[in-house]
Amino acid sequence: MKNNGYNLWLQYTDIENSTLKKKYLSQIKNIHSFGNSETIKACVEELERGFSGLFGDDYFLDKEASNNVLIIGTISNLNDIHQKNLKEDVLQIKKDGFIIKKIEINGNKKIVITAKTATGVLYGVFRFLRELQTNQPIEQIKIIDSPKVDVRILNHWDNLDRTVERGYAGFSIFDWHKLPDFKDPRYLDYARANASIGINGTVVNNVNSNALILTPMYLEKVKALADIFRPYGLKIYLTARFSAPIEIGGLKTADPLNEDVKNWWNEKVKEIYKYIPDFGGFLVKANSEGQPGPQDYDRNHVDGANMFADALAPFKGIVMWRAFVYSEHNPTDRAKQAYTEFVPYDGKFKDNVIIQVKNGAIDFQPREPFHPMFGAMPNTNLMIEFQITQEYMGGATHLVYQPKLFQEVLEADTYRKGKGSIVAKVIDGSLHNKKLTGVSGVSNIGNDINWTGNHFLQSNWYGFGRLAWNPYLDAKSIADEWLRMTFTNENDFVNPIKNMMIDSRETVVNYMTPLGLHHIMATNHHYGPGPWVGNLSRPEWNPVYYHKANEKGVGFNRTKTGSNATAQYAPEVEEMFNNVSTTPEIYLLWFHHLPWDYKLKNGKTLWNNIALKYQQGVNEAENMISSWNLMEQYVDESRFKEIQMMLNIQYKEAKWWRDSCLLYFQQFSKMKLPDGVEKPN
Ligand code: GCU
Repeated sequence: MKNNGYNLWLQYTDIENSTLKKKYLSQIKNIHSFGNSETIKACVEELERGFSGLFGDDYFLDKEASNNVLIIGTISNLNDIHQKNLKEDVLQIKKDGFIIKKIEINGNKKIVITAKTATGVLYGVFRFLRELQTNQPIEQIKIIDSPKVDVRILNHWDNLDRTVERGYAGFSIFDWHKLPDFKDPRYLDYARANASIGINGTVVNNVNSNALILTPMYLEKVKALADIFRPYGLKIYLTARFSAPIEIGGLKTADPLNEDVKNWWNEKVKEIYKYIPDFGGFLVKANSEGQPGPQDYDRNHVDGANMFADALAPFKGIVMWRAFVYSEHNPTDRAKQAYTEFVPYDGKFKDNVIIQVKNGAIDFQPREPFHPMFGAMPNTNLMIEFQITQEYMGGATHLVYQPKLFQEVLEADTYRKGKGSIVAKVIDGSLHNKKLTGVSGVSNIGNDINWTGNHFLQSNWYGFGRLAWNPYLDAKSIADEWLRMTFTNENDFVNPIKNMMIDSRETVVNYMTPLGLHHIMATNHHYGPGPWVGNLSRPEWNPVYYHKANEKGVGFNRTKTGSNATAQYAPEVEEMFNNVSTTPEIYLLWFHHLPWDYKLKNGKTLWNNIALKYQQGVNEAENMISSWNLMEQYVDESRFKEIQMMLNIQYKEAKWWRDSCLLYFQQFSKMKLPDGVEKPN
């Protein structure tokens, strides 16, 4: 059967194992829902949609049944007897957490899905459906789970003309031209998909913002989306262009300390809340890559962010202020700038400001050490930004399972409060006892029928949501769930393909940027290799700035004898990175400039190691094709073939990467390729 991938991981395909199906059916004879909010209605609809798919023709509800039924509703809407039964469990849930529990009352067995909020119930419903989709037993079901992070949010870099900055899955799903009257059913499916993984916010427009989004004409359109998303617990946020008071407000300045400017934003915020009473707040990119910001008026990030914070505070809105700043006037090292600009302001931002920091200090490379700001601002709310879309990892054609990358960053130890001060603890607020926490991901969604341009990259949206909910999850178990829900529960499929996904991240590092190389992608579009000098106006956009290859060696010296970026880390980490022998080899050339004949731990020269890594990446890309080719019997024809074609592109381009980089670097190393590395043709 043709499967175009539209249904994502919510495939709800007929459960093949008939014994299991019978078992499930005998325990879910009816759905009793309590409360009639839009969200509870959405819960019932989703359960019906799920059950009719999973149980097929065998599905029917016995309206009379009171034994073996499913109960759903917020705890305050349930009957007293249910409430009493769940009293202890309720104490364990936080925020939008949920309880799924089998209970027995007067001889009647029930599975209860409840929470303090209706959104929590919805999360429980999706979780219950996942249990069925992945064929888990439900006889004794007891799952109590709560999100560990408050703001779990997608950042769409979508423009109002529907182009998507760094988007590889078609045009924007948000059709501003036809909104507010034409409500594409896809908006609802988008909300469902997000709710199913616990995502509770979305910024619908680009960080390189257009002030028009804040005009009444667009706010009406935004309102239409907000109304569709609301039952799914998905809040709308917008990016705010710093110079909007000039562009759409007719003011002469956007100085954040100017009273007219402050008033203008106060009024604008009030107006937005009239359209969208639960509006989430603003995301702001200021004084970054040419965007306007407070520094244009000799003000600083605190002045800028706090101005928005004051306007939003009466409505409980928040400001996500991005720390992605760097300038061509920075003489030494772009990697240092965000820390230098922000850390001195620790403690100065208002409570409803959260500083949004990219996972690494450069820009979403296949591998970067964790950003030194994590853990370094104990008195400031701080959230992480991942890039789900693959700007630097082969667009939508390369299969890279990114939760592995996300997990690597979340597990990195900042040592800011001694050993074990991992990034995840900064992010969930536990390290410094923070009240406002967040995880954001630059979306890889577009209007392609399969949403992400490549069936496999749906797993990155999925995995992002799961890790935003719980940053301590394991990428491998997320891949397991996703494969079962998206394709099949057959272990002979799930196990090898799960391994393929897990390895795919290291594969891309190997054939693009091994051993700490970075930002050597082609200029501007960043697709494909381009370690040579680009035609670029700014030095730090040039790949040579990052690899610094010459006849003596290669790599960026960020130690105390170089840019001293290492000093931005806690002393333990600084020391580790300053010393070449304790620097993990995966970050070698990120921190050190080393001679081509420098010997690595395996006794081989740096040059040989680089060459062998590129070759390894190519071999692994080829192996992915072989692994996939064995799976034809488990996957519908259309998805099987599309994925196969993509893997072939990836293999071809892995060779392109290897050949280009090795030929380029060889001019400097002047060394032969080691045995086992294919000669570029
Ligand atoms: C990268 C990307 C830009 C984007 C920027 C950002 O530099 O190439 O397209 O605008 O990140 O995160 O703001």
